[in-house]
Amino acid sequence: MVTFPVIRPRRLRKNKLIRDLVAETELSEKDLILPIFIKESINEPEPISSMPGINRYPLNDKLINYVETSYENGIRSVILFGIPSYKDDIASSAYDKNGVIQRAVRMIKDSFGDKIIVITDECTDEYTSHGHCGLVRYKDSTYIIDNDESLKIHAKIALSQAEAGADIIAPSSMMDGVVGEIRKALDEAGFYETLIMSYSVKYASALYGPFREAAYSKPAFGDRRGYQMDPRNAFEALKEAKLDIEEGADILMVKPAHTYLDVIRLVKTNFPEYPLAAYHVSGEYSMIKAAAINGWIDERTVVLEITTAIKRAGADFIITYYANEIARWIKEGV
Ligand code: PBG
Repeated sequence: MVTFPVIRPRRLRKNKLIRDLVAETELSEKDLILPIFIKESINEPEPISSMPGINRYPLNDKLINYVETSYENGIRSVILFGIPSYKDDIASSAYDKNGVIQRAVRMIKDSFGDKIIVITDECTDEYTSHGHCGLVRYKDSTYIIDNDESLKIHAKIALSQAEAGADIIAPSSMMDGVVGEIRKALDEAGFYETLIMSYSVKYASALYGPFREAAYSKPAFGDRRGYQMDPRNAFEALKEAKLDIEEGADILMVKPAHTYLDVIRLVKTNFPEYPLAAYHVSGEYSMIKAAAINGWIDERTVVLEITTAIKRAGADFIITYYANEIARWIKEGV
C-alpha cells in the first residue's frame, strides 16, 4: 500500500550532489567565445561607456596581456572586431594587409599560436563611412545596398583575414550568398582548412545599440531591416540556416541569444548535426550590467542562469562579453 504521492520529483532536488548528477545542461569555460574590440588609433585600453567593464584595446602588449589573462581564466576562443583609423565608401581598410584586424590577428597568433582560436567578424559596417554591411548604391533620391557587388568585397575581406592567420571567418553582413562566395574565395586560395561560422540567423535588433557605440558602426542613414531578419519571424530562420549549410558554413549562429531562445531551439532541432553558436549581444550584456550596478539583481546568479538557458535551448557555445567572469565563476565553483 503506497501513500500518495508516489512520484516525488523533489527527490531529484534533494541536495547539490543529486542535482549535479541529474543536471541536463552544464556550462563550461570551453563553451565561451570572448569578443574583443581593437582600435587602431589608441595606445591604452579605453573604456566603453555603454558597456561598463569592457574596453577597446590598442594594437600593443595591452591586447596581448588581456588575451593572456583571458587564457589563464580558461578562455580558448576570441572573436575580433576592428575599429580602423580611416573609413571610406568601399571598406578598403577592412581588407588592407596592414589593417587593424589583420595586424591584431597576426599579433595574437604570433604570441599564442594554436593555443587560442582566433575568429574574425567579417563585415563592412565598421570600415565604411555609411556604416552599412554592404556597398551602397545611390539611385535617384534613395539608396540600395547592392547585394551582389557587396559579395566581392566580403570575399576580399575574408581572404585577407585568412591570410593574416584567422582560424574562423564569421560573416555577419546577412548578404544573400555571402557564405558561398567566401568559401569559394578561400578554397581558390588554398585555405581549405579555414572554417566559416556564419551569422546565419541575425535579427535586426535594437540590442546591438551598445556595440554600435563601441565600434562606431551605427548606419549614417537608414537601418539594417533590409538585410537583417525581422524579429517577428521564427521559421524563416530555417531558410537562412539551410542556405548557409548549402553554401558551406561549418558553424551556424543565432543572434541575439537570450531574446531568441525559441529560434535557437528551432535551429538546433532541425539541424542537430551542425554546431550552433549563440551571440549574447551587447544590449543583453548592458541590461544585466546596469541592473547589477544598481544593486537590483545578483549579477553572478543572473548571468549564469541566462547563459545556461541559452545552452539549454540548444546552443553549443556562446559568444558573450561576460566570458571572463563566467569562466572565473565556473572555476570558483557555484
Ligand atoms: C556587424 C556586427 C554587429 C554585431 C556583431 N557584428 C553590429 C550590427 O549588426 O549592427 C553586434 C554585436 C553586439 O551587439 O554585441 N559587424
